[in-house]
Amino acid sequence: MKILVTGGAGFIGSHIVDALLREGHAVAVLDDLSSGSRDNLPAGVPLHVADIVDPDAVGRVFAAEKPDAVCHQAAQMSVSRSVREPLFDARVNCIGLINVLDAAVAGGCKRVVFASSGGVLYGDVTTPAPESTPANPVSPYGITKWVGERYLSFYAAEHGLTAVALRYSNVYGPRQNPHGEAGVVAIFCKKLLAGEPATINGDGRYVRDYVYGPDVARANVLALLATDRCQPGTLTSLNIGTGIGTDVVELEALIRPAVAAAATTRGRTVATPAPLHGPARPGDLRSNLVDAALAKTVLGWQPTVPLADGIALTAEWFADR
Ligand SMILES: NC(=O)c1ccc[n+]([C@@H]2O[C@H](COP(=O)([O-])OP(=O)(O)OC[C@H]3O[C@@H](n4cnc5c(N)ncnc54)[C@H](O)[C@@H]3O)[C@@H](O)[C@H]2O)c1
Repeated sequence: MKILVTGGAGFIGSHIVDALLREGHAVAVLDDLSSGSRDNLPAGVPLHVADIVDPDAVGRVFAAEKPDAVCHQAAQMSVSRSVREPLFDARVNCIGLINVLDAAVAGGCKRVVFASSGGVLYGDVTTPAPESTPANPVSPYGITKWVGERYLSFYAAEHGLTAVALRYSNVYGPRQNPHGEAGVVAIFCKKLLAGEPATINGDGRYVRDYVYGPDVARANVLALLATDRCQPGTLTSLNIGTGIGTDVVELEALIRPAVAAAATTRGRTVATPAPLHGPARPGDLRSNLVDAALAKTVLGWQPTVPLADGIALTAEWFADR
């Protein structure tokens, strides 16, 4: 099967590319490199540097590659930027998605997997939220992910597409960008490797469901190939997470020794000082967890990498750089 991965030069997208290649599929990538990098891609993977907001550019990529399926990861994914620039967020996340769906329909590409977000759809929940939880997005980013699922549902019904929306929880792992506001594991790894303390916002008792990037990539591969339970003409929305809550204080306490160990095995010593506490971030949810039981039933997917192991692998990756 030939799969076009939009946003394939980014963190999650590049793990999807790796997983698809391992399974013997042909892969091409469409990415504007706004946050992704060529360095995330193996040599030989065709990379089309294009903006999903430009319908002609997207159409040209589909015409050139003729994919059987598209895995749509490209997005504006900063919640705070979406608050500051809702129009930009809507252009990339809604218009960009529509351009990709139009190009898929025009090119006869019948299968779409979409990166949605459990983290922003369900709001504050103290127990793992199933997919039936009413959507309650509070940021423009959350709204565009929700609207994205509605568009996907429409295109599936109207054009007979097989569509799957994967609602990720908090994804972490190698290649995550440590410069943004999200990606606390990457941010803390980078800080600690520089010998600086991590800064925890507020009291740090903000509970999240951390899922390892390559596990999320495997969910995408299963969704791209699922035929029996994901039917043409319908959208299937599935949570992808662990259902296990970890707060930021606990997370930092796992990352600090992992960074020290990764540095030591590379012949370096880093100070890994205790964390500082900064001001609380306005609007941060206290607790957010997803229940991924349906993904197990539909895709046979379960997370395989425990948080401590994933953090060790992530710390090692950052230590190598
Ligand atoms: N990381 C998480 O915890 C998380 C959680 C829920 C959902 N998601 C979703 O998963 C997807 C991948 O996120 P990620 O964490 O890998 O982020 P990322 O920033 O590493 O990846 C996004 C990729 O899309 C590309 N891109 C952005 N705007 C584009 C445009 N206009 N045209 C073409 N390419 C564009 C970027 O260059 C980048 O390579 C996104 O849709 C994001 O909203 C991520």
